[in-house]
Formats: sequence, structure tokens, C-alpha cells
Amino acid sequence: MPSDMKCNIAQHHIPIKRITRQEKIKTNDMKKTLTTIAAAFMAFAGCITARADEGMWLPSLISQRITDMQEKGFRLSAEDIYSINQASLKDAVVLFGRGCTGELVSPEGLLLTNHHCGYSQIQQHSSVEHDYLRDGFWAMTREEELPNKGLTVSFLERMDDVTSIILKGYEPTMTEDQRVELVKNNSQALIEEVTKEGNGLRATVEALYYGNQYFLFLYREYSDVRLVGAPPSSIGKFGGETDNWMWPRHTGDFSMFRIYADKDNNPAPYSKDNVPYKPKKYFKVSTKGVKEGDFTFIYGFPGSTREYIHSEGVRYIEEISDPHKVHIRTLRLDIMNKYMGQSQAVRIQYSSKKAGVANAWKKWQGEMKGIRKMKTVATKQAYETAFKKWAKGTEYEGLVEKIDAIYRELEPYSYAADYYTETVRTVEIANAAMSVARIFSAETFDARRLEETLSAFYKDYHLPIDKECFIAVMNEYEKNMPAESKPEYYKAQMEKYGSIAAWAEDLFSNSIYADRAKAQTLTEADKEAVLADPAFIFFNEFLKWYSTEVLPHTRRLNQDLQLAYRDYMRGQMDFAEATDGKAGREAFYPDANLTLRVAYGKIQGYNPADGVYYEPSSTLTGIIEKDNPEIFDYNIPQNLRDIYAEKDFGRWADGNGEVPVCFIATNHTTGGNSGSPIIDADGNLIGINFDRVWEGTMSDIVFDPEICRNISLDVRYLLFVIDKVADADHLIEEMTLVD
Ligand code: ARG
Ligand code: ASP
Repeated sequence: MPSDMKCNIAQHHIPIKRITRQEKIKTNDMKKTLTTIAAAFMAFAGCITARADEGMWLPSLISQRITDMQEKGFRLSAEDIYSINQASLKDAVVLFGRGCTGELVSPEGLLLTNHHCGYSQIQQHSSVEHDYLRDGFWAMTREEELPNKGLTVSFLERMDDVTSIILKGYEPTMTEDQRVELVKNNSQALIEEVTKEGNGLRATVEALYYGNQYFLFLYREYSDVRLVGAPPSSIGKFGGETDNWMWPRHTGDFSMFRIYADKDNNPAPYSKDNVPYKPKKYFKVSTKGVKEGDFTFIYGFPGSTREYIHSEGVRYIEEISDPHKVHIRTLRLDIMNKYMGQSQAVRIQYSSKKAGVANAWKKWQGEMKGIRKMKTVATKQAYETAFKKWAKGTEYEGLVEKIDAIYRELEPYSYAADYYTETVRTVEIANAAMSVARIFSAETFDARRLEETLSAFYKDYHLPIDKECFIAVMNEYEKNMPAESKPEYYKAQMEKYGSIAAWAEDLFSNSIYADRAKAQTLTEADKEAVLADPAFIFFNEFLKWYSTEVLPHTRRLNQDLQLAYRDYMRGQMDFAEATDGKAGREAFYPDANLTLRVAYGKIQGYNPADGVYYEPSSTLTGIIEKDNPEIFDYNIPQNLRDIYAEKDFGRWADGNGEVPVCFIATNHTTGGNSGSPIIDADGNLIGINFDRVWEGTMSDIVFDPEICRNISLDVRYLLFVIDKVADADHLIEEMTLVD
């Protein structure tokens, strides 16, 4: 929901607007001093159009925003952003793996993304002897670039509104199940049709606005993607979990890959005969530098947002889901930290796992704080009251009440599902036992797969961590799940053992997987033992319970919700148009769903708290200030210290003699935008997005233009690190630098 509508409808919840430095000047200049009362009055009369900077727009429809973008400083055209007739910026942006973004920066397929996006690849190539996580990795020749099994990058060839094709045959009398079936069949047919050429083509059909619209996304996917370079974690993950989601920030969060193709530039599986991919378009890299107020735009694949949900949905997140999940993860993280501090081998094993656990854990904390601070639940309730009044006598009458009722019915099931995913499903030995059991239950027994599964599991497994986590999370389960929601199996086990700790003692000594040597002697003949293993039974019994007692309910209720939201989404747009005209309707952008989007805004600081203003950029001096050899997250490489002491910054220092490191801007982003190019008014690359500020992490649910900022690596820091720290300037030579 565009923020103006969100905050203004609720008259008495209007926050007194904090005035940032930048805005102060503007405000005085324009004498635009709206009093709170006047603002509330205006809001009641109707909402103004989308406030600057909120929104993730579809590139193929960017012509609808281009005037606004140009008024804010953009100097290119809509065709430069997205075109299917000529090379455009979209051809330089890729979906990296299935959850990050990357961008091309050379005619030889060189790609930039975040360190944390390439993290599992860097980790997979690391061992105690070659600790690329700790020491960094730089391929000095093409031969040294490292292939990555399973990693792909996808270029968007085109996107089209296919609503009429997908809903062909739809009758209003159909049930939701029938509609789902129809959408599935029509989508499949269309996907087959558009990908029949093969050659790496992959397509998806995605619902926008809860299925009021459908878009086809056609990708070309490359699967030979090699690791080219990564700074040591002390640069790429500088600040670690302590600084994650925080500003001021000093993380050099980048890594480099290269896409390879066959000799005709087509996708091909890894082969040493493949050659570097020749992109249709790549970004020029700007060394000009950024300053507060500059126009910026971001091009990438935001994963998921829920900007238009009902107050009950928000309340569940803020009051129940986030707090419980955070608490459970705190326990797990404490345990991981303890063991990781004791051994380098364990630290490598659990680094990627821990980062995953810690990341959402910290974000949820910021999110619930942000929602609370913005009083989103109350604001939404007030909006819903206004909506209900307007909806009387329309097709939307009763809709808000209906959604409310569905949420109430859903809540105990969501709670059970949250507990299940955050406790039972996190037990590593049980997950491994399940994967193995699946191999034994397959029609033909695949010994190699078994081998691979087990070695992948043990490479990163430390039983004492898993066992302690089991005890911690299952104790929470015991405490917080109402008795009537617990599976019979669970109750019987508790009866038998008397405590979670005793149960764990038994499970972790009697499971086959507790003993690597024993597990690795498993053969086809051991099926019975595999299916009788206590870790497998634990997983399987809970899975059975979840599939029968929870899933059918969440599925049905979520389907009801989906259906109601489809109408509510339309209703919200109609309501906006009724009060605000065409501009009101146009302020709606579809929620993120890992499809390519454009967001735009400007470089800008913010006030995280009363009396505090954060500048929009950070420098190497800040890294030196944080540097502390005693603290793992802040212990920088010695050569960075030396370079700083000698002020050997080469051409990468700014006008003040400082090396810029990160900057923040008002672009609306979310998870998946990591690695996205941050682009200036001329379409040149100025940074790589990697995070958001903690106070603004509620932006997936409610965007506050005063506070929500995305964090990017300044591309000049990347150049500095490659040149000065890594001595890999052959990589810079491949790029086109502009100033
Ligand atoms: N918060 C960023 C994002 O959500 C970075 C995550 C990786 N870094 C970390 N310290 N866990 O992806
Ligand atoms: N760090 C996130 C990512 O990996 C970006 C964000 O959530 O702002 O996509």
C-alpha cells in the first residue's frame, strides 16, 4: 500500500514527521508546512499519490513511471531500461542462483554479486588448507576460475502480461480449486510453447496482485558459472553478524564470477571447452562518486513482500510469529557460537549455516520493532474501517470482515507450523536421516547418491552442536505448544524418556548417523535399519502429523485468504481511485515475487532516533576505527592496515582523500535484491546493493520513506580492494570505467 494512504487514513496515528536535514531546506524553501491537522484532513479527503521512493515496479511497464524518474534526475529513457528490440540495461542483470541478483560488468561475462550471495560456493571450495573464506580467493588466470555445481544465472529475455491466456476458459461459477487447476494447465501449456526451442530457455508464469494479473517471464539460464574472486571474509563479511542489517556499515560485500557459454554463446553445462559469455549489455562502472541527493535506481529480483495485507496478518507477525522465532533462534545461535569459537574447523563448517540462521533472526527483530513504531496494526485497522464504510453496497462489502475471520481460524495452525519449522525441521541429523531414507525408498537404489548425500552431510556436521540445539529447541516446543496440538508420537516419547534431554541422549547415541563410519557402511540391504532409525522416525512422525493435522488446514485457509485477497486487492485499488483518482490507482505496485523489478530514489541519510542523524556514506577510516584484532568480526587483513597507514589509495580516494566504502539510498528493496546493481542517472554502475538498515526492515510490510534505506557497497571500494588488497587489476582492466 502506498505509504501516504497507509499513514494518513488514521488521523490520530499520524506520526509527527521527523524533518531530516535535507528536507528541512526543502521544506523551508517551498513553505510547504503542512500541520498535522491539515495533513489529516487531506488524508481523509483522499490520499495523495505514492510518496517518492516506495515501490518495486515492473520494468516492462516502466514507461508509466519514467516521467517521475526523469523529474527526479534520471537521464535515460524507458527503452534504455527495458526493451525487447534492442539491448537494454535488463540484459546486464541476472537472477543469481535462486535468490540473489548479479550484474555483468565486462564484455567477457564477468559478473558481480555479493560476497554473501557467493558464500556457499566460496565455502564449498574451502578447507582448512585452502580457507578461501578466511583468506579470500583470486583467480589470476582464466584457468584458475572455479566451477560451481548447481549454480545458475538467468537472463530475462522478456516479460508479458498473459492474463487473458492464463484465465482462458475461466467461468465465474468455478470454485477456487477449479481455477487453480485451470491456471496451472494454461500456464504449463504456455511454458511448453515458449520454451520449445530449448537452449537454456526457462519460463515461469507468476501471479501479480494476488492473481488479478498473470505475467510470463522467459529466461535464458546459464549453468557454467565460475568463481573468479572473493575478498577475505574480514572484508567481504566485515562486521559479521554484529553489523549485519546495520548502518553505518563497512562491509566489502562482493564476489566475482564469470559466465561461460559454448562457442556460439549459448548455455552449456560445464566444460573446459566453454568460453566466456559475451553479454548483449554490460554496465559501465562509474568512478565519479556519489553524494546526498543524487538520483539512484536499482534493478534486481526482490523476493517477497506483503504490503497490502490485513491488520490481523500484521498483528500475527508482530506479536506472535516474529518474537517466538527470534527467541528459538537465539538459543541455536548461542550454541553455534560457543562451538565455533573453539575450533576453526567447526567455524568453517557452520559459517554458512549460522549466517542463514542469524540473518532472518536479526531482520525479524528489526521488523517487529519497526511495525510497532509505525503503529501499523492500528493504522491498518483505521484504514479497514474507512474501507468498510466505502465498500457498503459494493461487491467488496463484507470482505474485510471475512479476511479477519479467516485469520482467526488460521492462527493456531500458523503457530503450529512456525514451531514445526523452527524446531523439529532444524534438527540436522533428522534431516540427514530423512534424505537417506528417501534414497532407500526409491524404486532403484542409487549407491552413489547415498555416498554423496552422506559426505555432503558430514563435511559440515558437528554432532555436539546438533544435540545441544535439539535439546534447546525441543524444550521450547514442549513449553509453548499447547498439549492438544502435540502429536501422539511426541507425547509417547516424552512419557518414555521423561525429558527432552534424556530423549536426546538416546537418539544421538543410537542413530546410525551419529557414527559417520557406521553410516558410511550402509548398503542396499540395510533398508530396515534405515527406516527404524530413531532420527528418521523423529522426522517422519512429525512429518506425518504435520501433513495430516496442520497442512490441510493451512492449505485450505490460505487458499480462502488468497481468494479474499484477490478481491481485496482490487477493492483497495478501486477505493484509492474513488478517493484519489487515477493517480491513486497507479500508486499500486505488485508485491515482490522474485521477478525483475526497478525501484528508484536518491542517496540520503536518515534519523534512526531522536537527535541522531546518519550520514549517507562511510569510508575506510570507519573500518580502521572498528578494526580490532581481538574481535573476529572486526579483525581486518594486515595489508589493509598497511595500505591505510601509508595512505596508498591510488586513484580510488575521493576528493577528501578518503576511500569510500558503502552508501545508503531510499530505493525500496528486499531479500533477493542482494547483489543488485545500483545505477546512477546515466545508467552507470555506482554500487552493489547488499542490505537494508535495521530500523527499516519492516519495509516488506510497510515502507516508511523517512527511515527505509537500502545499503550498497560503493563500487570504488570494490575497485580499491581488487587493485590494492588483491593485486588483481587484470579484472579492472576488463571493465569500462567512466567518470
Ligand atoms: N542482511 C543481508 C541479507 O539479508 C546480508 C546477509 C548475509 N550476511 C550475514 N551476516 N548473515 O541478505
Ligand atoms: N540482504 C538481502 C539479500 O540478500 C537484501 C535485503 O533484504 O535488503 O537479498
